[in-house]
Amino acid sequence: MTAASPVTFIFLLLFIGSAARPLYPLPSRRNDRSKQPLQTFRPYNIAHRGSNGEFPEETAAAYMRAIEEGADFIETDILALRDGVLICFHDLTLDNTTDIAQRKEFESRKRTYEVQGVNTTGYFTVDFTLEELKSLGVKQRFPFRDQQYNGKFSIITFEEFISIALDAPRVVGIYPEIKNPVFINQHVKWPGGKKFEDKFVDTLKKYGYKGTYMSKQWLKQPAIVQSFAPTSLIYVSNLTDLPKVLLIADATIPTQDTNQSFWEITSNNYFGFIKDYVVGIGPSKDSVVPVSDYYLQTPTNLVARAHEYNIQVHPYTYRSENSFLHLNFSQDPYNEYDYWINKIGVDGLFTDFTGSLHQYQEWTTPLSLGEEDAYKLLDKIAHLISKFKN
Ligand SMILES: *[C@@H]1O[C@H](CO)[C@@H](O)[C@H](O)[C@H]1NC(C)=O
Ligand SMILES: *[C@@H]1O[C@H](CO)[C@@H](O)[C@H](O)[C@H]1NC(C)=O
Ligand SMILES: *[C@@H]1O[C@H](CO)[C@@H](O)[C@H](O)[C@H]1NC(C)=O
Ligand SMILES: *[C@@H]1O[C@H](CO)[C@@H](O)[C@H](O)[C@H]1NC(C)=O
Ligand SMILES: *[C@@H]1O[C@H](CO)[C@@H](O)[C@H](O)[C@H]1NC(C)=O
Repeated sequence: MTAASPVTFIFLLLFIGSAARPLYPLPSRRNDRSKQPLQTFRPYNIAHRGSNGEFPEETAAAYMRAIEEGADFIETDILALRDGVLICFHDLTLDNTTDIAQRKEFESRKRTYEVQGVNTTGYFTVDFTLEELKSLGVKQRFPFRDQQYNGKFSIITFEEFISIALDAPRVVGIYPEIKNPVFINQHVKWPGGKKFEDKFVDTLKKYGYKGTYMSKQWLKQPAIVQSFAPTSLIYVSNLTDLPKVLLIADATIPTQDTNQSFWEITSNNYFGFIKDYVVGIGPSKDSVVPVSDYYLQTPTNLVARAHEYNIQVHPYTYRSENSFLHLNFSQDPYNEYDYWINKIGVDGLFTDFTGSLHQYQEWTTPLSLGEEDAYKLLDKIAHLISKFKN
């Protein structure tokens, strides 16, 4: 490749740029210099749809709570609206997690569309504009969770979600999913022939998200891009070098874009192929350790095989309620975390209860005081040097 000279040039620019920059922190609101960095020595605490065990999912309240509780990453599902705006919302329909049913003015928006081969009826996000959507209130998905916040918070945009992460008092990563890309690209059109995936990556770039896994740039603003659609991940790998994770649905569900079976995409052959595009996979936990009658069965070798290809494993979803905890764990979520972290050896956990996972990890593998002290010392040195600069 003859790319050496532009690279050298960029390197020089960076060098000159940084030499000219003052060593003391600029007084901007988003000054990352003294922020506590992302921890990378223990499995990631991934706040699934925010702290949705406590607050209605994917709302600002759920994300802010997750940050307060110690999330390493806040996780979100990105969908698109009729006017092309990207929002944080899990279902293609508004029915199960908003108050749309009580909103008579939207009655006529009910539609039936084919979603992954199944006719589905409801109020689809793709038939609403942002202004309309902002007038709705989000509610809890599960009846056994706290209902007191129902209707109190609105749906947020992808950009608002990013602001929450960037405004956090420490470095908090984002973990956005390219949700239902086949359906979204069928129903939403953008100017200039741009696709959903293009808009998704444009948004990340606009806010400075870039860099390979563990690079200096990435550690400053960590982001992991996830999708159940291999085609989307391979497509975006041409647009961004951010790390990617392939989500894997239950064994009975084929991939939504390439119609590949669970067995095909969890084979050694496929791992050998996909490792060039992803840093990890996100399987459902029951496909890693099968369950029968609420009891765990013999674990599969999925994690060990993925690790042989240097592929991380971030299973979903860890939920503290008795109705989700398998009986082997004696109704104790700490037992479940202990099993998955120390026996199965996963690299990240999608949890509805960030606070619980964080407390378990602080109890067993606390963030080292040494690390924090080192950062304080660096700050002190920068401060000392700044005096001589002036
Ligand atoms: C969905 O409904 C339409 C209209 O009734 C029908 O033509 C189509 O075959 C249905 N698709 C599936 C997958 O059932
Ligand atoms: C709402 O949730 C129920 C239960 O999970 C599901 O069967 C149904 O399809 C959902 N409705 C819509 C419109 O998504
Ligand atoms: C990525 O870019 C290369 C070079 O432009 C192109 O040949 C390839 O088809 C692209 N891949 C995808 C998946 O778009
Ligand atoms: C997906 O694959 C299955 C199994 O090979 C096949 O029966 C089915 O027709 C395929 N579906 C589509 C939409 O291609
Ligand atoms: C879970 O409990 C069941 C019933 O006691 C037992 O058969 C099974 O081996 C246990 N699973 C694990 C992974 O310990």
